[in-house]
Amino acid sequence: MSDEKSFHMTPDEFRRCGHAVIDWIADYHARVESFPVLSQVKPGQIRASLPPNPPAQGESFDAFLRDVDQLILPGITHWQSPNFFAYFPCNASGPGILGDLLASGLGVQGMLWSTSPACTELETHVLDWLVPMLGLPGKFLSSSAGGGVIQDTASSASLSALLAARERATSYVSNKKGCDGRIVAYVSTQTHSSLEKAAMISGIGVDNLRQIEVDANFALRPDALARQIDADKRAGLTPSLVCATIGTTSSNAIDPVGEIGRVCRRHNLWLHVDAAMSGTAALCHEFRHIHTGVELADSYTFNPHKWMFTNFDCNCFWVADRKALIQTLSILPEYLRNQATESGAVIDYRDWHIQLGRRFRALKLWFVIRHYGVEGLQHHIREHVRLAQQFAEWVRKDERFELAAPAPLNLVCFRHKAGDEANQAIMDRLNRSGDLYLTHTRLNGKLTLRLSVGQTHTQAKHVERAWQRIREEAGRLGNRKSEQTA
Ligand SMILES: Cc1ncc(COP(=O)(O)O)c(C=O)c1O
Repeated sequence: MSDEKSFHMTPDEFRRCGHAVIDWIADYHARVESFPVLSQVKPGQIRASLPPNPPAQGESFDAFLRDVDQLILPGITHWQSPNFFAYFPCNASGPGILGDLLASGLGVQGMLWSTSPACTELETHVLDWLVPMLGLPGKFLSSSAGGGVIQDTASSASLSALLAARERATSYVSNKKGCDGRIVAYVSTQTHSSLEKAAMISGIGVDNLRQIEVDANFALRPDALARQIDADKRAGLTPSLVCATIGTTSSNAIDPVGEIGRVCRRHNLWLHVDAAMSGTAALCHEFRHIHTGVELADSYTFNPHKWMFTNFDCNCFWVADRKALIQTLSILPEYLRNQATESGAVIDYRDWHIQLGRRFRALKLWFVIRHYGVEGLQHHIREHVRLAQQFAEWVRKDERFELAAPAPLNLVCFRHKAGDEANQAIMDRLNRSGDLYLTHTRLNGKLTLRLSVGQTHTQAKHVERAWQRIREEAGRLGNRKSEQTA
């Protein structure tokens, strides 16, 4: 064997290069603050620096890392910078990275229990751990009629929920016959766009996705929901699912899950709860009230890959009735038949989501929970919320600025009172400076800045500096105005 020609990396080469990569990552994290947070390259710049053709002969690994430094890093927006305050966190951590690496090293494809029992059983176990950690109802435990699964993203989890709801509402005929154009689902005007995409993919159709109005705090109005359901039923339509959000993307609004749940119960609708970022806050007892009413949910999803220090991608999705999900997504071609599946004694996670193949994502989640412990996770979440609340207080006290929405957790929506142009200018200048990265939304028609605190290493000094830089840019606005009018 050893005499055979091979282009593969030898174990010794792998060890040497692997050490170099770990060193590179450790150095990157140590120097990440020295880079502009938002990549400053122009469209096409990265491709123009790459060779037009692939190499005919293999190259040395050392050259790859040099090129990562020289060619790739300029095109990186540094999500792992503690000065990253844009969108929502996508935080990584040492144990998360190492768990992911180990999953790559094992190279397991865990589509069936039998294709790697540990991949399935660790996943079930860690998802069961998370149920009491987050104060979720016992019906999501694998020992009940429900259970949890790791998916790639919240988008996939919500699509799975919508498919199961569609099937349940149509007595499982839509999978066979297709949709009849009469199935409707309900979200709020603030629900994440992934539900709109799910309506497209599921065949329910965007026209049949009702966007229910929200209250002054951007939370879904249960009375408006109930009215719309009644109207749809009178029109002979088939209501299927309501999606409630705990922490909307735009403003972190928390829908009244309990009241929405009671409307769902009255009409036998599937209640799906999307807590993509904010669900993590429920690790702390003082924030657990966000989960009030989740006991009425048929499914619930949150992303450890957002705010729980677990590298992208890692989404957790629970259902109260696993049979409904499995009946919706199960398909068993001959080549996947095996004794363990036939015995009924095992979980085959391929039946719990869209795709067949699946990575061993539970490893990184397991490592993260074991490294931090519940106490460590709570500490950092608490600290992020404290920093965001401190920032909100500074905004309140500065008469040039106003809060644009309540800030219940780690996201602060605020704006300069001078209007859209001023806010756009502040944001553009800050982002161009590379000192920090902020993004925006539109609330009540007004351009609004969002400061999202949640990057793994964000500390008080970073939030203080962000506020200082925002004030500086606001001050420059004033100067520019008086210069122009002089
Ligand atoms: C509330 C909410 N739901 C869903 C998503 C989509 O998450 P994912 O990228 O995991 O699909 C996001 C953020 O992107 C979000 O904020």
